[in-house]
Amino acid sequence: MSNLYDEIKALKERKNAIILAHYYVPDPVQEIADYIGDSFYLSKKAKETQADIIVFAGVLFMGESAKMLTPGKKVLMPDRTADCSMAHMGTVESVAQVRAAYEDVAAVCYINSTTELKAACDVCVTSSNAVQIVKKLPQHTIFFTPDRNLGHYVSTQVPEKEFILNQGCCPIHEDIEPAAAAAAKTAHPGAVFLVHPECRQDVLAMADYIGSTSGIIQYAAAAPARECIIGTEEGVFHELTMQNPDKKFYPVRPGQCCDNMKKITLEKVRDCLRDETNEVILDETICRKAVRSLDRMLELAK
Ligand code: 13P
Ligand code: SF4
Repeated sequence: MSNLYDEIKALKERKNAIILAHYYVPDPVQEIADYIGDSFYLSKKAKETQADIIVFAGVLFMGESAKMLTPGKKVLMPDRTADCSMAHMGTVESVAQVRAAYEDVAAVCYINSTTELKAACDVCVTSSNAVQIVKKLPQHTIFFTPDRNLGHYVSTQVPEKEFILNQGCCPIHEDIEPAAAAAAKTAHPGAVFLVHPECRQDVLAMADYIGSTSGIIQYAAAAPARECIIGTEEGVFHELTMQNPDKKFYPVRPGQCCDNMKKITLEKVRDCLRDETNEVILDETICRKAVRSLDRMLELAK
């Protein structure tokens, strides 16, 4: 194992590369990363970096977003089949239909989406900035795609606007059910309940805190509570336990696991960096349009 770490470190130095990792990838990959974070933080890091190569330890939409924000850089994916299933649950046609039916509408695209969908929308958001950005949009009607759960959560925080929600969702977060949340609360009566806004609205209604993966980690560190029930993918437990060795963290139920994120291994990180394989290549025309949505997100989130 340590040889693999040393090999990756040497490759990073020799090639002026950095590794960006999402909190959901396996622990050893989080440990070798230069930056670990939520989708918004990692997009900003991709845009800022002076490195020549970015290895994106995450799912495809993350690597594609990094490539759009830094077109001159080489972005490599450790596993090109690691994809977010929700990213494909929104269509360009549905955006066109809503635009035809409503005059004063903004198409808002969760960053967990394809490049084509980003190109068709007006602005991108992540779970950590969606409320802030939607509040700032001049349009009264919001078409939120692809995630109905994040879209519904935003609608509760921005009641002055009207929302049309695309009916996609993350299978992992959708599977966290209220009955399991109630059972976890009964089993751990002193614990606070922290959830990701990709969870169902009946689960969000039971939460003490709702936020992105980074938001959950920050809240858990600052909260006086010694125990937390966590309603998101289990990869966050690595950072939670590192930052708070004296606190206890429980999943709502076993198996809160994104199989695509778990495809990212140290061996694949090493191989793609050594051989410069699985480079993200995007169609230039679509990319030019899609990056406008990402740049607008970065601007409105300031
Ligand atoms: P964050 O932006 O909160 O890290 O979420 C990304 C994601 O894929 C959640 O399922
Ligand atoms: Fe996509 Fe859900 Fe996996 Fe996040 S946890 S990457 S939303 S499938």
